[in-house]
Amino acid sequence: MLNRSLLIVDDEQNTINSLERQLRHESYFIYSANSGKAGLVLLKENDIGVVLSDLMMPKMDGITFLETVKQIKPDVVRILLTAHGTLENAMDGINRSRIFGYLTKPWSVEALSGTIEGAFQHYNLGLENKRLQRLTEEQNKQLNIVNENLENLVHERTLELEEAVQEGVVMLAMAAEAKDDDTGEHIYRIQRNTRDICTALGMSSKKSEQIAFFSIMHDIGKIHIPDSILQKPGPLTIEEWVIMQTHCIAGGKILGDKPFYQIAREIARSHHEHWDGSGYPDGLKEDSIPLPARIVTVADVFDALTHERPYKKAWPFEEALAEMKMLSGKVFDPEILKVFFRIQGAKSEEQRVTSNDPSV
Ligand SMILES: [Fe+2]
Repeated sequence: MLNRSLLIVDDEQNTINSLERQLRHESYFIYSANSGKAGLVLLKENDIGVVLSDLMMPKMDGITFLETVKQIKPDVVRILLTAHGTLENAMDGINRSRIFGYLTKPWSVEALSGTIEGAFQHYNLGLENKRLQRLTEEQNKQLNIVNENLENLVHERTLELEEAVQEGVVMLAMAAEAKDDDTGEHIYRIQRNTRDICTALGMSSKKSEQIAFFSIMHDIGKIHIPDSILQKPGPLTIEEWVIMQTHCIAGGKILGDKPFYQIAREIARSHHEHWDGSGYPDGLKEDSIPLPARIVTVADVFDALTHERPYKKAWPFEEALAEMKMLSGKVFDPEILKVFFRIQGAKSEEQRVTSNDPSV
């Protein structure tokens, strides 16, 4: 709804009457006052769009009045009505109060209509701009809320999916592990040691977690190996050993071809490769063996040596490390083994200090 409310302020009633008469066909709603003070009362009480004020008035002059209008309602468009001779003296004040325009007495009907109409267009355009700005701000706010909700939802769903995938991976790893290690503790020990090695090698925590997580599937291919071989209490025959070795290729196949499982595949297939090329199933050598697999080889052998299996007793910690040291550069990547020894040394030192501390 367009604003058409005009306030005329002039101490001479005749001037007000004349202005009202000349504007009566213009569909304005006209308020009038004979002083600045009365004009301000009307301004505060009514929704006025344009103010036309005389310059020379007793008590409060037109410039002071219009400056006050600007302070109270900055959007109201202000026009000054002045006698021709007083305009030059009033220029400073006019510029200071930043009025929209001025009319000089005597005015022409055209100038009056044009100035007032222009003032209302200016006022209503300003209102419309503000309305649109508010609308845009409101819509942006709503859009931000929608975006935020959407982001939260996507984040939530992603976490749920990741959790589901992780649970699936753990279940699969546990299923394979259940065939030769009832407790399932083996995979968690491998995971911990793998994470420690990755971190000590300077990998990011995200990468370390990723490799450690996929390490739990290193023996997933054992699902294909008969229990009679897996749980055999004594040494395997050559034929049984050949079957046992197929768990690497089987594991790689179980893990499919999706990029997500690339690291898991590398570990499952290559964790029995040897640094000197004497391992299986591909006889890979040195750096051609994927790094995650070289890391898991160290973690896996250490765990196998230091824990009981159906066909062997657990080795003491120091003996296991001594054995592994002998296999550096043969079975193990020497650099990774060095890092692993450093971690174990630090752990032993920590244990020694703790056990000697009477406060513990
Ligand atoms: Fe294995």
